[in-house]
Amino acid sequence: RHFSCPGTVAANFGSEEQPLGGAQTGSEDKIPKKRFSEVQKERREQAQRTVLIHCPNNINEKKFLKYLSQHGPINKHFFYESFGFYAVVEFCQKDSVNSLQSEALTPNMSTESAIPFKSRFLNLKLKNLSNKIPEQLCAQTSNQSPPSSKKLFELLNYAESIDDQLHTLLKTFQLTEENVRLRHLTCSLIEDIAAAYFPGCVIRPFGSSVNTFGKLGCDLDMFLDLDEIRKPDVHKNAGNFLMEFQVKNVPSERIATQKILSVIGECLDNFGPGCVGVQKILNARCPLVRFSHQASGFQCDLTTNNSIALKSSELLYIYGSLDSRVRALVFSVRCWARAHSLTSSIPGAWITNFSLTVMVIFFLQRRSPPILPTLDSLKSLADAEDRCILDGNNCTFIRDLCKIKPSGNTETLELLLKEFFEYFGNFAFNKNSINIRQGREQNKPDSSPLHIQNPFETSLNISKNVSQSQLQKFVDLARDSAWILEQEDKGQPSPSSKQPWGLAALLLPPGAAYPSLSKKKKKLMSEKVKGLLASIKSSSTDISKDTYGK
Ligand code: GTP
Ligand code: MG
Repeated sequence: RHFSCPGTVAANFGSEEQPLGGAQTGSEDKIPKKRFSEVQKERREQAQRTVLIHCPNNINEKKFLKYLSQHGPINKHFFYESFGFYAVVEFCQKDSVNSLQSEALTPNMSTESAIPFKSRFLNLKLKNLSNKIPEQLCAQTSNQSPPSSKKLFELLNYAESIDDQLHTLLKTFQLTEENVRLRHLTCSLIEDIAAAYFPGCVIRPFGSSVNTFGKLGCDLDMFLDLDEIRKPDVHKNAGNFLMEFQVKNVPSERIATQKILSVIGECLDNFGPGCVGVQKILNARCPLVRFSHQASGFQCDLTTNNSIALKSSELLYIYGSLDSRVRALVFSVRCWARAHSLTSSIPGAWITNFSLTVMVIFFLQRRSPPILPTLDSLKSLADAEDRCILDGNNCTFIRDLCKIKPSGNTETLELLLKEFFEYFGNFAFNKNSINIRQGREQNKPDSSPLHIQNPFETSLNISKNVSQSQLQKFVDLARDSAWILEQEDKGQPSPSSKQPWGLAALLLPPGAAYPSLSKKKKKLMSEKVKGLLASIKSSSTDISKDTYGK
């Protein structure tokens, strides 16, 4: 690429560079994995050298790049469509952005009035029509949305095995390199706005955008980190004197959070280019500002004072990177739950994707030998510099992925998926709690239907919101799905048949996969399987005793 510059490396996350299909065990994960903090730092620097440009949709790519490279060499660029045609352009140097901005004008409106604001979100206009070109020479766009369900079913039916289906699902839904860049760029653009109030603040993405479990189209969780401001620039011991900033005091941290988010919300609403539908949800347990970033198409949730959530994202990143089966299984379980309306984008009594992910991690800790280590064993591997206490909670765990021994477990994804449904189809939810810190069931400390211990704030339940009926729906669907996969084993619908099979059959409404079975007969079969599963469960010994890596 003639515009590229040396010295920039793509981070090994969420991109096509990840090892995906083919191998089925953890042993192929030989590529050295970067630490979460390294990936985030690198992405942030990339984003700071990047601009977002709304372009005419018949732009000539070559001329466009030539024009922009007057400001300095370009490292990477791509185009995408989202209610308009946009270019993401990453320069090699930050100075190029300043140079480009110094050339840009504030538009002169005829009927409306523009509030001047110099951001890195720009608008390109054609001065003369000779730059217009025939359709076929136009810039190619990169897709930012997930495939339609029709397309997904086609892809799944075309796969060669259930393992192949799980890999296919992961490959088609995972965040692309371009989408990851766009997410970090959006945070960086919001940071520029927040910095107008709080110079030196950082907007960090967290949740599924960075934890390796993000699906195309998922929301963008970001938090305003003011800790960087709190840190002194230089440490000086000035004898008997100590200098402090004069600040305003408020009665509690919660009020401080609400006040900060309130002004940022106002700011986004009034001056934030491309920020629409700003809602301030300040009375929630975790106060937030929700808005749409129109140009990127992301639904954004902005919080502050939320470093534990970032630490949870780092923990999930580690679990997602340790073994290639983890992400494949989590994506399938999440898609399955979404297809059966077990999860929803509206908050309510349903299971969240976060809870489902923790359930998969727990299940993988329970395999023999375990596929994932317990959080306690990650803590015991930690060095002094990994030590982390947040709000009085010990959030310490090893952050260097290379120091964690890969699992010797070689089970296939097909088996794991089936066993996942069997395991949770028969889990004693009425008396046990799910605990990834210890990797074994614990007695439930309260009467909530589903109890999943918060990994860091251990007295809390991350699925407190889940109702008994939603849990029951989950259990029933898990049993049905285990039964469907059981039929596959018996050589029922096969890859060659036209009927949805394997994972595709699991994503269909109940009863649709095997229409030939009458409801009554199916219920009988299901009961039989339940009995069988229960007997298997009671006869199996406790496999958790030998914890991972010990
Ligand atoms: P998506 O559904 O793809 O957005 O998954 P997500 O993991 O991003 O979930 P969500 O946007 O709901 O929440 C963002 C992050 O907040 C999660 O990844 C968790 O780190 C954290 N989080 C969400 N819900 C809870 C909860 O109930 N308890 C705790 N402790 N953290 C939560
Ligand atoms: Mg999210």
